[in-house]
Order: sequence, then structure tokens, then C-alpha cells
Amino acid sequence: MKQALVATALALTLVACADIRREYHYFDDMHYSPGGDTAKFDNRGKRMYDMLEPENTIAYNGAPAYPYKKDADVELAARELKAPATVDIKRGEKKYQIYCAPCHGAQGYADGAVAKKFAGVRPLATAAGKAAERAEAFPISKIYHIATAGQGLMQGYAPQVQEQDRWNIAAYIKNELQKKK
Ligand code: HEC
Repeated sequence: MKQALVATALALTLVACADIRREYHYFDDMHYSPGGDTAKFDNRGKRMYDMLEPENTIAYNGAPAYPYKKDADVELAARELKAPATVDIKRGEKKYQIYCAPCHGAQGYADGAVAKKFAGVRPLATAAGKAAERAEAFPISKIYHIATAGQGLMQGYAPQVQEQDRWNIAAYIKNELQKKK
């Protein structure tokens, strides 16, 4: 009896793992829907997929890869990167509150809800009565680089936040969060 049960369990496990891709195709299978690359053109120069990227999504294909490495290139990136001519600080604030505040806190004091469970979040602005936090001295390019590629325990936000918005966030941190005292 016991053996039969073990055999059945094993058989079910194996069946569950089997590739259920089939040769026949009645209609598009939601299980294996093909990934359409909206940035791809066919050999007549027409878009292969008759659609554009949805608004506020990030076109990954065709975008040049970010040339600076996470921790190793932080100083190089800070020296070389230039902020765009215009930044939208209001939009930066909105994006900061969505993507950064859960850890870094609404004011940048490293007291977001996640920081309470996840040790090691660093402050971005100095709370009243405290000695200046080191991020106060970072140029905007360094904050942008860390937002893009990450640093240490923090991962980069390039896959979630558009390039211009990462600059907007960095500008918000420099011009508002770090100026409030
Ligand atoms: C999941 C939590 C988390 C989120 C969300 C997060 N960070 Fe961080 N951040 C950290 C941690 C942890 C560190 C410290 C990393 C280390 O040095 O090991 C850090 C460090 C930093 C630093 C460097 C501070 C210093 O003193 O070295 C900057 C700048 C920074 N984050 C910016 C941002 C920005 C901008 C965002 C939003 C796009 C963001 N972070 C989102 C966790 C987070």
C-alpha cells in the first residue's frame, strides 16, 4: 500500500514536470504565449509586432547597455555622468515616494517601513540634530548611478524606473530632501 502511494506521488510529480508543449496549435496557448519584441523590425523595415510599447514602460531592446558597473565604477560614473538639461523635481518626488521611500523613508532618514525589517538602509538626508550623513556630499551623478546600478545591498532600479525619472529622483533628493533642515 505504502509503495503504491509513493509510486503514485512520484508519477504525479513527474507528470507535473513534463513539458506540455504540443505540436498542434488550435489557437494561441496562454500558457506559452510568444514574447513579442516591439522593438524588432522585419527585413522590409516594418515592425514585426504591430504595436508600440505601452506608455510608461521601458524599452529594453536596442537601448544601449549602461556602461558603469555597480560598485566598482561608482566614482567613475559620478565624475563622468552629466544630469540632463531639464529635470522635473515634482515628478522626481512622486517617483521617490513610490520607489525609494519604502526603504529610505519619506524624508530620506532611512526609516521607511522596509528599513524596519531590513537592516542596512542608509539615510539620504540628515535628520535635525544629527551629524551630516555622507550621502549629503554625493553629487547628483553619484545618486543617479546608485539609483541605476545599485550599491552593496541595494539593487539598481534601471529595470523599474525610466532613465529620465532616475535623474528626476536624484534631483529631488539633492534639491529638496537634502535642503530641508
Ligand atoms: C529595498 C530597499 C531599498 C530601496 C527601495 C531603495 N534603496 Fe537605496 N539603499 C538601500 C540600502 C540597503 C542601501 C545601503 C547599501 C549598501 O551600501 O550596502 C542603500 C543605499 C543608497 C544610497 C547610498 C547611500 C550611502 O550613504 O552610500 C543611495 C544614494 C540610494 N540608496 C538611493 C536610492 C534611490 C534613489 C532609491 C529609489 C530609486 C533607492 N535607493 C531605493 C536600500 C534601498
